[in-house]
Amino acid sequence: MDRRSMAARSPLTLLLSLAVAAAGVLQVRGQRAPSIEGFITIDCGLPEHSSYVNNRTKIPITSDAGFTDAGYNRNISAEYVRPQPQLSKNYLNVRSFPDSVRSCYTLPSLVPGSKYLLRALFMYGNYDGLDKLPVFDLYLGVNFWWRVNISRAEGSILAEVIAVIPDDSVQVCLVNIGLGTPFISELDLRPLENTLYRQANATQGLVLIDRRNMGDTGNYPIR
Ligand SMILES: *[C@@H]1O[C@H](CO)[C@@H](O)[C@H](O)[C@H]1NC(C)=O
Ligand SMILES: *[C@@H]1O[C@H](CO)[C@@H](O)[C@H](O)[C@H]1NC(C)=O
Ligand SMILES: *[C@@H]1O[C@H](CO)[C@@H](O)[C@H](O)[C@H]1NC(C)=O
Ligand SMILES: *[C@@H]1O[C@H](CO)[C@@H](O)[C@H](O)[C@H]1NC(C)=O
Repeated sequence: MDRRSMAARSPLTLLLSLAVAAAGVLQVRGQRAPSIEGFITIDCGLPEHSSYVNNRTKIPITSDAGFTDAGYNRNISAEYVRPQPQLSKNYLNVRSFPDSVRSCYTLPSLVPGSKYLLRALFMYGNYDGLDKLPVFDLYLGVNFWWRVNISRAEGSILAEVIAVIPDDSVQVCLVNIGLGTPFISELDLRPLENTLYRQANATQGLVLIDRRNMGDTGNYPIR
């Protein structure tokens, strides 16, 4: 049995973790321009074939065309487009998935057996005009990752997981659990050195509960 079929048969266990942000690799400091090779940064719901550069991180962000066939682009309601401090552009639109129970993104061009950080962001902003906060599940491939429980229309929710991906692509799936339509604002993938986060290996992943940047004096953006 090769590595790929083994991984497909034995679901990864996703551990809960408390990550203290000592990992300089994920931070922008000063004027250095670290490599963004292998980064995937998707502003979900952005009009097809459009892209822009994040003002703070300088990382290019693309639309989700090519990563998913499912769902619809929607803008958040005008009342949630905050001018001051300006609402980050990634939250202005979402992709929502009213048509099926399970809707997936496929992230391609990975190095099989390598470690990745995946990050998903959600801000409801009453994009559907229903004023109804949904609860839905997020999966990494076949593995349960996080229950996204939207408790405030203007609040943003962050889900993160660090996992060894056995194949050259991975699916991130949103699953309707009968408590409202799943949607997503942003989806990111970042390659990690295989030596980082040893608790994340071929059989188990690490799910973020909280991250604190200890003793930092600046407000550096997280990449
Ligand atoms: C979303 O807003 C943009 C401008 O901010 C507009 O061009 C676009 O047509 C809107 N899309 C929808 C689906 O309403
Ligand atoms: C990003 O920068 C552009 C140009 O400097 C500016 O017009 C825009 O308001 C900025 N957006 C945010 C979200 O800061
Ligand atoms: C969502 O969170 C609220 C509290 O904010 C809780 O009362 C509710 O049970 C949660 N829903 C699910 C399905 O977990
Ligand atoms: C992953 O780590 C766990 C806990 O340390 C260990 O039980 C498991 O055997 C490891 N898996 C691999 C493939 O090394």
